[in-house]
Amino acid sequence: MSRMTATARATPNIAFIKYWGNRDDDLRLPANPSISMNLDGLHTETTVTWSDKLTVDELTLNGEKDTGEACDRVSAHLSRLRQRFPVITQYAAVKSSNNFPIGAGIASSAAAFAALTVAAVAATGIELSEHELSTLARLGSGSAARSVPTGFVEWRTGNTHKESYAESFAPPDYWNIVDVIAVVSREHKEVGSSAGHRSASTGDLQAARIAGAEERFAVCKQAILDRDFTAFAEVVEYDSNLMHAVMMTSRPPLFYWLPPTLMIMEQVRHWRAEGLQVCYTLDAGPNVHCICVRKDAAKVSARLKAMSEVLDILKAAPGIGTQIITT
Ligand code: PMV
Repeated sequence: MSRMTATARATPNIAFIKYWGNRDDDLRLPANPSISMNLDGLHTETTVTWSDKLTVDELTLNGEKDTGEACDRVSAHLSRLRQRFPVITQYAAVKSSNNFPIGAGIASSAAAFAALTVAAVAATGIELSEHELSTLARLGSGSAARSVPTGFVEWRTGNTHKESYAESFAPPDYWNIVDVIAVVSREHKEVGSSAGHRSASTGDLQAARIAGAEERFAVCKQAILDRDFTAFAEVVEYDSNLMHAVMMTSRPPLFYWLPPTLMIMEQVRHWRAEGLQVCYTLDAGPNVHCICVRKDAAKVSARLKAMSEVLDILKAAPGIGTQIITT
């Protein structure tokens, strides 16, 4: 291999139409198409160095050596790359750091696996298209497929590994919206999304959620393209509620909401009724992503700040895709 080391930077993304449940768990082929926006200013930076000297893959996460679950997941992903690209014969030292809290509904695995994939491939010198990088990132964490392309992103399901990739349908500056994230817990979630995806079909509601997903996907994409906040807010909140209904009615049930989560959701609906252009959406965690137009972001942020339950507020405009920052 010519190059041995590379660093990539990826942002997490917030899904407006959610991905929940796989048609194929090993390949992470999703049960439904999804739409997201990359989150500018929040990022994971990962350096991968392939080395003859290593006998196992090593992970340093936010400055600390990790030999637990995170390292196993990283190593499993690198093994997938070794399997698909026989030219890679070495193990790797991986150094990764985030500038945002992990494990609480801010899609850290999306940024992590997008950055890991892009850095690991760049370090080998193999040149792949964005589509191919997105498919490979997907194998580590489904939503990571969406952190590879820029701005507003769609991920159609696809029937095979190669067909299931995400692509951009609008650049970051297409629509001036902001994700104001109300952090209400910094705890690592008890049930991760991989287990969650596997349990999605154990209740009665997932089939109904999947049946309507194509239509919600089309409505949401059009609302973004039209910059129509009213239509956007309606479909985004509905889709988030629907995913959480599936989670809560899975067997065993998954409850990601905390009391402050529900309080903020209620407030956001009030604020919208009063005229602010804001709506909420939640991933697999209790933190509330309040999506609003830029002119209302300061007001939304101030109102959230006034709530004692809100521990922290993060703000992100639409962001770019995964970048190689050094090779
Ligand atoms: O990529 P995963 O396996 O962490 O799944 C992410 C699932 C949600 O964040 C809940 C929804 C989504 O589409 O991002």
